[in-house]
Amino acid sequence: MKLALTELAEMKRRGNKIVMVTAYDAPGARFADAAGIDIILVGDTAAMVVLGHPSTVPVSMDEMLFMTRTVARAADRPIVVGDLPFGTYQVSDDDAVRNAVRFIKEGGADVVKLEGAGPSLSRVRAIAGAGIPVMGHIGLTPQSATMLGGFKAQGRTAAKARQLLADAQALEAAGCFSLVLEAVPAAVGAHITETLTIPTIGIGAGADCDGQVLVYHDLLGLEEGTSPRFVKRYANLADEIRAALRHYADDVRSGAFPQAEHTYSIPEDELELFEAQLEQRGSEHQ
Ligand code: KIV
Repeated sequence: MKLALTELAEMKRRGNKIVMVTAYDAPGARFADAAGIDIILVGDTAAMVVLGHPSTVPVSMDEMLFMTRTVARAADRPIVVGDLPFGTYQVSDDDAVRNAVRFIKEGGADVVKLEGAGPSLSRVRAIAGAGIPVMGHIGLTPQSATMLGGFKAQGRTAAKARQLLADAQALEAAGCFSLVLEAVPAAVGAHITETLTIPTIGIGAGADCDGQVLVYHDLLGLEEGTSPRFVKRYANLADEIRAALRHYADDVRSGAFPQAEHTYSIPEDELELFEAQLEQRGSEHQ
């Protein structure tokens, strides 16, 4: 049964941590569901970890909808979050509502997420006003990484920390049901979490957030290269996949695969008949 949105606020109240992970396809969603994950974010990180782009910016609404649909089909209990990609809510409230509606109607998402405060406050009001729950996202907001001076921690001066807290409060007042805090000092994450009544979900925002989120490919070690400081790798699947594929290729080339147990048989009498028919056809064509 689907986890109720109201349960998240209850979890914050009780001090039970909320667990969120990204997923982009049905197998990932099934694994997350079976592991008891509370929220699945079909994040626009898909642009980088699935589609091979250098940033989150290029992923389209249709690509996000395609992935969200597959996740929503496979996830039973977790709340599924559709992540509004860059360009789908920046221009107007109307765009924001229209695309949020698409995530719910066409993507099967339960809620949507968008980045930023400032102009995003009006988008949150509009989407929540249309009856769609909205998750906010502040701190390092990858869609505006260029404006922020790159992929780096935010809120590291008193003034910037104060601004983050003000943004968090404004997003709560605008109607967000939850807020992602990305790459902010742990102490700032703790202050924001304590001040808000809605749950905070941290990614590089310290242990005091009400929940945590990691990117599927990062935590499973599917992503190559260096990862941000806040990533903890719980597996190294890239090595296992590479080794398995190499083993398969070696087996095919050496003839070690397939074996008898991987093949189908035909009853002896049917095979004899088949071969007799082939022989007869051969003699007719001579
Ligand atoms: O798109 C995403 O995966 C995200 C998480 C990093 C929070 O926004």
